[in-house]
Amino acid sequence: MPNIELKNITKTFTSINEATKGEIITAVDKVSLKIKKHSYNTLLGPSGCGKTTLLRLISGLENPTEGQVFFDRKDVTNMTTQERDIGFVFQNYSLFPHMDIWHNVTYGPVVRNRFNDETEKYIHSILKMVKLDERARAYPSELSGGMKQRVAVARAIATKSPLMLLDEPLGALDVRIGTALRYDLMTLVKKYKLTAIHVTHNQEEAMTISDNIIMMKRGKVIQSGSPKEIYDNPNSIFSAYFLGRCNFFRCEMIDKNTANFQGAIITLPKNFPEKKVVLGVRGEKIHINSKPKKNNIQGKIEFINFLGEKWQYIIRLSDGTEISALKRVPHEAKIGQKISISFYPDNILLFNEPRDFEKEKSV
Ligand SMILES: Nc1ncnc2c1ncn2[C@@H]1O[C@H](COP(=O)(O)OP(=O)(O)OP(=O)(O)O)[C@@H](O)[C@H]1O
Ligand SMILES: [Mg+2]
Repeated sequence: MPNIELKNITKTFTSINEATKGEIITAVDKVSLKIKKHSYNTLLGPSGCGKTTLLRLISGLENPTEGQVFFDRKDVTNMTTQERDIGFVFQNYSLFPHMDIWHNVTYGPVVRNRFNDETEKYIHSILKMVKLDERARAYPSELSGGMKQRVAVARAIATKSPLMLLDEPLGALDVRIGTALRYDLMTLVKKYKLTAIHVTHNQEEAMTISDNIIMMKRGKVIQSGSPKEIYDNPNSIFSAYFLGRCNFFRCEMIDKNTANFQGAIITLPKNFPEKKVVLGVRGEKIHINSKPKKNNIQGKIEFINFLGEKWQYIIRLSDGTEISALKRVPHEAKIGQKISISFYPDNILLFNEPRDFEKEKSV
């Protein structure tokens, strides 16, 4: 346990909201997915795309309308959460307020009849790992948010369940504590050889923590792969935008490997068969020429933002398109200055022009 496999999973709800009463909501839409043993996976996508529902379907807290869930080729679709043996970490900690940390963490092994001398040692070692061994007698109300979430993580690991499901575990924490806890989670999952599925809508969190990112949009899995695979080869405008905020240029094709963007002739990395094409270029791949070149794309510097390790140049093109260029060292161009931009063919991603570009990019 567990290689996890989802086969054609769909989950629909019937709306009880006054305005939409009786309407069918498809929260998860024909999802098929494989999750490798001992890997750290994130479900990444915008609010309402079905991440929590998919996690609950894996856990058995929710039953699919259609499809099957397999753990190591065994069909667990009709098994309860207890039978599936899962450690669950919720966004809002869900600790027992009347129990101290020790009893919160030992609760799982006690109810599963797994508590013995060895478990006691094991739990001491987990509390040490999450830096709470000296606070074992404290109550949840005496702890900060970051500490409470570490207790919740320790509690999930203490169950000795090989599968840990985490729903936005870092969402309620301040950025600094959340970032530190990311590394703790990665370390714990590797140390105890767990398989983790972690829900987030934070792309930076997903990129740092994951072996595998599962990108979701409107109930569907759009793409899955390592952070680098998805960043370098996004399969859609949505993936390119959601992971790494790609820039887009909507062009007319001139011939099979050149396109026209507002009069600038752009050579493509390979032939493209359609009449229209959307070019995707990452911010760090955009060159700014402070003396505008005639055959380049023309624009104007609108804002310059200092982001610590890099500078962001917000450029407005004449058709209103906003471009974000990222530089490790500040560029000489100033706010309000007319500039031109260019990029190498090898740094261009190619996409079909969608029916509704803005909708494609967003949720
Ligand atoms: N019990 C339910 N009854 C009716 N609709 C539901 C129920 N649970 C979820 N939904 C709907 O299913 C869709 C997906 O919800 P879900 O909570 O899985 O999204 P999410 O990706 O986790 O969003 P968020 O990032 O905001 O937590 C939403 O439209 C939601 O309103
Ligand atoms: Mg959710």
